[in-house]
Amino acid sequence: MAQSISIVLVLALALLAFAPLCFCGKTNGGYLYPQFYDRSCPKAQEIVNSIVAKAVAKEARMAASLLRLHFHDCFVKGCDASILLDSSGSIITEKRSNPNRNSARGFEVIDEIKSALEKECPQTVSCADIMALAARDSTVIAGGPSWEVPLGRRDSRGASLSGSNNNIPAPNNTFQTILTKFKLQGLNVVDLVALSGSHTIGNARCTSFRQRLYNQSGNGKPDFSLQQSFAAQLRNRCPRSGGDQNLFFLDFVSPTKFDNSYFKNILASKGLLSSDQVLLTKNEASMELVKKYAENNELFFVQFAKSMVKMGNISPLTGYRGEIRKSCRKINA
Ligand code: HEM
Ligand SMILES: *[C@@H]1O[C@H](CO)[C@@H](O)[C@H](O)[C@H]1NC(C)=O
Ligand SMILES: *[C@@H]1O[C@H](CO)[C@@H](O)[C@H](O)[C@H]1NC(C)=O
Repeated sequence: MAQSISIVLVLALALLAFAPLCFCGKTNGGYLYPQFYDRSCPKAQEIVNSIVAKAVAKEARMAASLLRLHFHDCFVKGCDASILLDSSGSIITEKRSNPNRNSARGFEVIDEIKSALEKECPQTVSCADIMALAARDSTVIAGGPSWEVPLGRRDSRGASLSGSNNNIPAPNNTFQTILTKFKLQGLNVVDLVALSGSHTIGNARCTSFRQRLYNQSGNGKPDFSLQQSFAAQLRNRCPRSGGDQNLFFLDFVSPTKFDNSYFKNILASKGLLSSDQVLLTKNEASMELVKKYAENNELFFVQFAKSMVKMGNISPLTGYRGEIRKSCRKINA
């Protein structure tokens, strides 16, 4: 008896001892660290920041567009700059996917950063890291929280159009579908709600939410979780047909300021996208988080920073995997 107990004990201890070795899942972002370019390209972060600052000064929306690029990159084969590749040879560009077509933008700013970095330190800083840094800088410039960006990602030698279509949530997906898509990336409901707070800046096209205004469930009725006079305003510039590309602020209260008004809007039934409003109406845990962040900006900021680091750690290519592209738009010859 005593002997079998001690065997169980030894086994349990052995398991505990080896447990740290077993965080060997697909989110192996532990290889990334903020000091990665400190020796090889000490000015890297400064260069990224100055070009992002210049671009956002020229057009405030660019902060939102750069933040979103990193998200749309990370959800497809990990944060590997696959979204930046143009079509050529066997590569079909992700820029053509449903979530990206006529919508993803900021590619010229990434190009400008890349050329500046190639001059300063050739083939050293990856396009994937540029996007992670640009997302952080954009957030800070728009008034949001800051964080240290773990670095050392390398760039993919391929793209995935189907991955882009399937993995990135659509604005009319159900809450469950959206949460499932986040979980497939190793993110949870807290990450989902905090990261959706990105919609405190930037724009959406009429086509991304028209369904809510006219025919939410295929029964010819609007989405009743949308405040009525707000819906009427939206219908003005988002008619039943036409005007697909007309732009609307995701956060009409402070469209270029990174703050928690996005969550306050949701509480007032004025979330622009269905995917915004369902965070309040379809799940208890998510509802509590929306209320918490609406009430406490600091709590939102702290969690946003944490969740951005987590998202940035999705399946990076490290070591000898992938490459450092010379041009973000094409793989090296
Ligand atoms: C939770 C699921 C999400 C859905 C369904 C979703 C969907 C959308 C849609 C439909 C748009 C407007 C696109 C257009 O009409 O052109 C948009 C814009 C945007 N999204 Fe999301 N999104 C989600 C999560 C996120 C996350 C996690 C981030 C960042 C971490 C993010 C950042 C942004 C930003 C900043 C914009 C504005 C971009 C601009 O103005 O150029 N979104 N999103
Ligand atoms: C969501 O929107 C897409 C694109 O507009 C449409 O094809 C699809 O039928 C919609 N899905 C649902 C469940 O309404
Ligand atoms: C609403 O959508 C359903 C299914 O997508 C369609 O059959 C119906 O004709 C639409 N109704 C209106 C009034 O647009």
